[in-house]
Amino acid sequence: MNRGSVVDDFLIELRNVRFDVQDNTIVDDISLGFKEGKATALVGPSGGGKSTVLKLAAGLLVPSQGAVFYQGRDIALFNRGENLNFRREAAVVFQDSALWANQTLYQTLELPLQIHYPKMNSRTREERIREVTRMVGYTRDLSVRPSQLSMGEQKLIGFARALLCRPNLLFLDEWTESLDDDAGGRLVSLVKTLKEEGKTFIFITHDVSLVTSLADYVIMITGGKVSMEMSGTQINTNADMVNIIEEGMNLCDSEYAMLIR
Ligand SMILES: Nc1ncnc2c1ncn2[C@@H]1O[C@H](COP(=O)(O)OP(=O)(O)O)[C@@H](O)[C@H]1O
Ligand SMILES: [Mg+2]
Repeated sequence: MNRGSVVDDFLIELRNVRFDVQDNTIVDDISLGFKEGKATALVGPSGGGKSTVLKLAAGLLVPSQGAVFYQGRDIALFNRGENLNFRREAAVVFQDSALWANQTLYQTLELPLQIHYPKMNSRTREERIREVTRMVGYTRDLSVRPSQLSMGEQKLIGFARALLCRPNLLFLDEWTESLDDDAGGRLVSLVKTLKEEGKTFIFITHDVSLVTSLADYVIMITGGKVSMEMSGTQINTNADMVNIIEEGMNLCDSEYAMLIR
């Protein structure tokens, strides 16, 4: 470990990360870091590149250029064991939930435990599955498939899956979308509790109240670049900041580019 270097200030750091799909640059030379034990909100217009940045930071997309560091180490250089460890410590709730269409919810929830804890017996797995579904407030049958659920229920199962292996770091993409106030409120309290336990959060939202209530840092992503960085305190003491964030959330990327030009 390079103890004492700048890198160690961040749990996850992106350095000069670019991401291209064919001839399109989706993320353009982004450098940013996420601090341990803190919640960072990624905000900005639709199509700006938030989900792509989140997946790059989570190691689910490979940068076309630049590198992503976890605890000061380049994740591209992880060996198999380190990679598995990173996958267990860093969990993702996907914008589209990304559940297995042809598996029951129970099978979907069982898989991460089978991968990460191969010696865990089926009864302990079941207890953990019941525990995480209770935590997120999903009370229905687990023997059904995702197509039988509402979008909101799919989100809850996606959230429960992320919690299964007790991650240290959670990436949440539009995680309260499609949920009613009760269900969303429950997840917000859950995140607050986990944050008090020292977990790190990187989340994307279009709900400015989540930014003001949860975020220690806010990063706005526009046109595949970081267009603004601020602390949670700046947001809570500056109404203009809230307006800027809200405008950014409600526009599409090209409209927002016109606005801030
Ligand atoms: N795999 C891909 N292939 C082609 N275009 C993509 C791909 N992933 C993302 N994009 C494009 O990149 C832009 C940013 O996408 P995304 O990161 O999903 O934005 P956001 O989450 O901010 O709405 C969008 O214009 C999207 O269509
Ligand atoms: Mg997105």
